Amino acid sequence: MALIPSLPGIDLPLIQAPMAGVQDEALALAVADAGGLGSLPCALLSATQLEAALRTFATLERPINLNFFCHAMADPDPADEQQWRNALAPYFHAFGVEPPPSSTAGARRPIDAATVDLLEPFQPKVLSFHFGLPDTALLARMKAWGARVMASATTVEEGHWLQQRGVDLVIAQGIEAGGHRGHFLADDLTAQPTTLDLVTALSKVLTVPVIAAGGVGDRADVQRLLAAGASAVQAGTAYLLCPEATTSAVHRAALQQGDRDSAITNLFSGRPARGLVNRLMRDLGAISTLPPAFPWASQTLAPLRAAAEARGLDDFSPLWSGTRPGRFRGLDAAAVTHALTGVG
Ligand SMILES: Cc1cc2nc3c(=O)[nH]c(=O)nc-3n(C[C@H](O)[C@H](O)[C@H](O)COP(=O)(O)O)c2cc1C
Repeated sequence: MALIPSLPGIDLPLIQAPMAGVQDEALALAVADAGGLGSLPCALLSATQLEAALRTFATLERPINLNFFCHAMADPDPADEQQWRNALAPYFHAFGVEPPPSSTAGARRPIDAATVDLLEPFQPKVLSFHFGLPDTALLARMKAWGARVMASATTVEEGHWLQQRGVDLVIAQGIEAGGHRGHFLADDLTAQPTTLDLVTALSKVLTVPVIAAGGVGDRADVQRLLAAGASAVQAGTAYLLCPEATTSAVHRAALQQGDRDSAITNLFSGRPARGLVNRLMRDLGAISTLPPAFPWASQTLAPLRAAAEARGLDDFSPLWSGTRPGRFRGLDAAAVTHALTGVG
């Protein structure tokens, strides 16, 4: 039997979380070499970039998980956009930066038929989804070539919903998790359990394997979650300081400060995500009605973020992190994989 049920070719019960914006193929390949399941976030990739990654991965014996977003795309709303620009105007002024022209380029987009057309000739064996699932016909096409499908659930209800629609493994994303909350049925953050509670509940009621995601900082966390019923653990924040990650300098510095709290904020993209508290979150409140709907908030922030980062400031940067940042300093991805699983 495969070590992780439904996922042949993986030696360790560890999945490196796909992390858009802070990694490329290098991190996924290093974790795969170390015996875990490496993941590539595809939400921000162009078709050319995705095809190049598919060609690289096609030469490997081990599978790599390809991750996509499945949000319902909101149309940009000019009034909401203006409200956001007004809220940010004092910062643009203080940093001497011009607000960017309105643009829809480079936005995070959900997986679509054109992307599945690109995937199909390569028949990738493992796919994961965040913010729900692709529509039924697209999902059926991917399952027809034998892909194993994983998707994030933040509540027991979402776990049931995913299993009913044919997901092979449910990722239980606890409230401690870094990055975007994967919720898609309801957005009440107070109804989203901890990783341990969600894994315990889901592994009792689902028949598919459950993967634990959120707040994993050491081997004891992994063992606790496996003992609670998880078939494997998906860790993200643990890999952010690795040389194979593309984590920015200000993000790396913040993760290592040791005294920075994390909080869930919708300021950077329009959707709730956990990150280290910074100036924008303190000034505007971590959860705010000011930003436009996902994914439109980040475009307007981009030049401000770049100007601040050039001065070594993390004031406007999304510092995505779970509740246990900075645990693995100076370790590469293989060493983190082995430290979490007690191998090597
Ligand atoms: C920097 C960062 C970026 C993330 N981006 C994605 C993503 O693109 N797709 C996704 O499914 N999950 C994403 N996540 C969430 C992870 O899949 C996972 O739920 C989370 O990392 C687990 O919590 P941990 O960070 O405490 O280990 C991201 C997490 C982080 C920290």
